[in-house]
Amino acid sequence: MNFWTAPGGLHIARGEIDDARALARLHAQGFYRGWPASDFTAYLADPKITPAYVATDARRNISGFAMLRISGDESELLTIAVDPKKRGHGLGRALLSAVFADLTMSPVKTLFLEVDETNAPAIALYRRFGFADIGTRKGYYPKPDGSAATALVMAAPIG
Ligand SMILES: CC(C)(COP(=O)(O)OP(=O)(O)OC[C@H]1O[C@@H](n2cnc3c(N)ncnc32)[C@H](O)[C@@H]1OP(=O)(O)O)[C@@H](O)C(=O)NCCC(=O)NCCS
Repeated sequence: MNFWTAPGGLHIARGEIDDARALARLHAQGFYRGWPASDFTAYLADPKITPAYVATDARRNISGFAMLRISGDESELLTIAVDPKKRGHGLGRALLSAVFADLTMSPVKTLFLEVDETNAPAIALYRRFGFADIGTRKGYYPKPDGSAATALVMAAPIG
């Protein structure tokens, strides 16, 4: 089991199946369209394909998480979210550092992601980690007002 330190006395650990409810709650706080806890249960049951990383205290109070999908030598950052009350203190950075450290020891060569082109905090975080723009997908993210936002597709090399 890998283990990385994180700000605020937290650490980054691999997600486990019992974390499903906590991850669904954090995800719903971060995105207009949440995913049901049952989706997280299914993802967490298959950690070789969809590994998760959680920022947690010693009592498993989870303040943020990231989840990947692995496919051969490629991986996609499916989602990353930090508790709104705990943003801006380095947890997103700690989660991505753990993701990159773990992928360095895997066959994955490239990490992809999609992000709403108006999501400035997330795009700034990704650029810090070496993600470059590789394209856009129009109409990708539905919005509460019925419109849809364009996704920026980004990629970063591993290792
Ligand atoms: C994106 C998110 C995960 C960042 O988590 P966080 O813990 O607040 O991020 P950190 O404190 O580690 O910040 C890391 C970097 O992100 C960028 N960043 C974070 N918040 C920012 C803000 N409000 N404005 C601009 N840049 C910001 C900065 O580059 C920052 O580095 P710096 O502190 O050295 O300047 C968090 O804002 C979140 O959960 N958002 C809602 C869900 C979401 O949009 N996820 C990404 C979708 S693809």
